[in-house]
Amino acid sequence: MASRPGRALLCAMAIVSALTAMSTGVHAQTLTKDNGAPVGDNQNSQTAGPGGPALLQDVHLVQKLQRFDRERIPERVVHATGTGAHGTFTTTDDLSDLTRAKLFARGTVTPVFVRFSTVIPGRSGAETTRDPRGFATKFYTQEGNWDLVGNNLPIFFIRDAIKFPDMIHSLKPDPVTNVQEPERVFDFFSHIPEATAMLTRVYSNWGTPASYREMNGSSVHALKLVNAKGEYVYAKFAWKSRQGERNLRPQEIPVIQGKSTSHATVDLYESINAGKFPTWDLTVQILKPADLDKFDFDPLDATKIWPDIPERKVGTMVLNKVPENFFEATEQVAMAPGNLVPGIEASEDRMLQGRLFSYVDTQFHRLGANFQSLPINKPLVPVRNHQQDGAMNIDGRKGTVNYQPSRIANLAEDPNARSSNLPLTGTTQQQRIAKTLNFRQAGDFYRALSARDKDDLVANLSGDLKRVKNGVNLYTMLSHFWKADADYGKRLVKAVGADGAKVAELAGALKE
Ligand code: HEM
Repeated sequence: MASRPGRALLCAMAIVSALTAMSTGVHAQTLTKDNGAPVGDNQNSQTAGPGGPALLQDVHLVQKLQRFDRERIPERVVHATGTGAHGTFTTTDDLSDLTRAKLFARGTVTPVFVRFSTVIPGRSGAETTRDPRGFATKFYTQEGNWDLVGNNLPIFFIRDAIKFPDMIHSLKPDPVTNVQEPERVFDFFSHIPEATAMLTRVYSNWGTPASYREMNGSSVHALKLVNAKGEYVYAKFAWKSRQGERNLRPQEIPVIQGKSTSHATVDLYESINAGKFPTWDLTVQILKPADLDKFDFDPLDATKIWPDIPERKVGTMVLNKVPENFFEATEQVAMAPGNLVPGIEASEDRMLQGRLFSYVDTQFHRLGANFQSLPINKPLVPVRNHQQDGAMNIDGRKGTVNYQPSRIANLAEDPNARSSNLPLTGTTQQQRIAKTLNFRQAGDFYRALSARDKDDLVANLSGDLKRVKNGVNLYTMLSHFWKADADYGKRLVKAVGADGAKVAELAGALKE
């Protein structure tokens, strides 16, 4: 108990602090060190006399600098620039005929966190960059977290995960100059004819969305929906923006970038804070396993859309809250295609199979062994297993049984969560897929563009192709675009001043 004079002093301090709070409008809480003890002076370091050096005994100074020195964590190796928001997803159409995932029972409301991003720039890169945009959603369902880690564009550049590190190296800044170089980008892509459709989309105005609110999203891959009987179908998901789609034209980009490199983050935050909550409908395309071979392309090839399959609306997502702390939510969120719930499984898509490994692996490196315990990553349902310990563990697990099975304290398996059975025949192999159809969908996309969008695409793409000095790479790239559509190829040839007859001959020798 404080003595009488002590109590009087505490009262006087309380009055002074109340008066300060009234004058500043802020209740001043006491500043503390990391051990919780109050800080006496946060303005002046302890020094040896008025002119002497700083003292090592100034624990507050040392601690403040130590914590500052450790503020940064490794940035994402791709998708480093991003912004996030909280919201909800409401299921409006019952999918229980197709999946046992409880999230898809009509009327279910599931909290979500969405992170939008660019791909290639390092952290704090310009949001006007020509790039696909990440559109990743974490659904905190009653059966654990489901992450739908998609992009704005519905296809991808490559179809096999083994090519991903090489592709990203070619797109990232040159290791010598630290500048992105079309010479390196097209040196890689001239070997990748299946990238023609995605390059066409990225160089169109869809490669520069006007804002995150005004873009659609896609799972790109097919996933599998599995029903209560263990039967599965393949499913491609898409987000349809209720704000409509809007893209930047080439001449708008420098104007916006000249004013702000974070225009899309500002737009999202301002819109949500003004109560104009952005909204997307989720749709799904369904393909039965028996129909997989009925196309002239491989439906599990991530470089393809499914053009003639109807889209069924599943529900609606509303983003209604910006994070209170960017680092804790948006920087530390760990989206992973392997975060699935019973009734949703990965398909055999070779890209997706690689992604199942890569995300959690990089997150162990980026965030540490116990990143799933961070509030933004923690499921709403309890996590009970015997994964344990590691740096920064706050699991709070109790008891002597840290193994399974056990007769002392068992954790039961759930037969409903068993994976479906995939019929297989044949041998192991290392072969490209049989039905490549590398160019047709690129041509279909080009032909569907308005005249103005075609002009912008040709201007954007030829601008970078003109910078390719290696003739073989340049002519190979031109032949890919020509093969997709002869008019597209001719316009590019004219824009870069190449030999049309030579490109036509190269295109003629290409096979779909
Ligand atoms: C085999 C191919 C791919 C590999 C190996 C790969 C790998 C990665 C890695 C390592 C990250 C960083 C994750 C983190 O640090 O949290 C990442 C982020 C991301 N990737 Fe991929 N990726 C691949 C293909 C794709 C595709 C096809 C899509 C779109 C469908 C995609 C969408 C994303 C998104 C949206 C993010 C950012 C997630 C977030 O906002 O935190 N990636 N990817």
